[in-house]
Amino acid sequence: MIVSASTSQSLASALAATLDEPLAATEYEKFPDGEFRVSIPEFDAERAVVVCATTTAEAHIEALQLQDAAREAGASEVVTVVPYLGYARQDRAFESGEPVSARAVARALSTGTDRVLTVNPHEDSVDAFFDVPCTTIDAAGRLAEPLPDLENPVFIAPDAGAIDLADTVKTAYGTGETDHFEKTRHSSTDIELQPHEADVTGRDAVLVDDIIATGSTMAGAVSHLSDDANRMFVTCVHPVFAGTARTRLARAGVEAVYGTDTVERAESAVSAAPAVADALD
Ligand code: R5P
Repeated sequence: MIVSASTSQSLASALAATLDEPLAATEYEKFPDGEFRVSIPEFDAERAVVVCATTTAEAHIEALQLQDAAREAGASEVVTVVPYLGYARQDRAFESGEPVSARAVARALSTGTDRVLTVNPHEDSVDAFFDVPCTTIDAAGRLAEPLPDLENPVFIAPDAGAIDLADTVKTAYGTGETDHFEKTRHSSTDIELQPHEADVTGRDAVLVDDIIATGSTMAGAVSHLSDDANRMFVTCVHPVFAGTARTRLARAGVEAVYGTDTVERAESAVSAAPAVADALD
């Protein structure tokens, strides 16, 4: 039975349809002190597949509650799908005294589940932080699907870490060139990019990254391309869009932004459900 958190209702619905498994009804209640309670009143299955993007602190609690509710309701196996794993970018202590937040949340999620699946985590090595088996799933190939017919396209990663993603989207699209920027991050919003090598003059540019959070990385890349490129498209696996990220991209002249439903936004043009379903079988 598929059990959806409030953050992952579209993906959970698509997953239930893909797997032909029932989708559990869930109920939510919020107490005056801010605590909330979730329940799965009619849960009736051997296996619970809890689907919860941990985009907020509350979503982390919700995931733990849903895991526990499924066990209480008699599930003998709990699988937790975390399509977007919040805190995954804090995968080391950058300064003395800091936590390894990715490890802390992974350990907490491990306590209530037999297995975890996550989609395009910032680093695949995050799987080692879980105390139960963790499978990482690549949904980037689907990002080519919503793209229109492109003119001599170049697929560009805004930093070296996203080169493989750009290559995946280019391969899925079927033609084009891949390039990347060199990125130096001075703070969470202060990004410096060194220009790419490919000549984008008169060509369609498709920028590819794992996450758009503040949009600083993408906006920086777009500003380097806008004078020369024909059209600019932005794709990402996780369309987090913190603050004004989405409007920053629109104001920078981006033609369209496409993401997956690991984070549910208007721009979630493709579903990660088929890739998650494959990994669950
Ligand atoms: C970092 O290396 C990631 O791949 C993304 O480029 C980054 O998380 C995007 O963050 P923002 O949108 O805040 O620049």
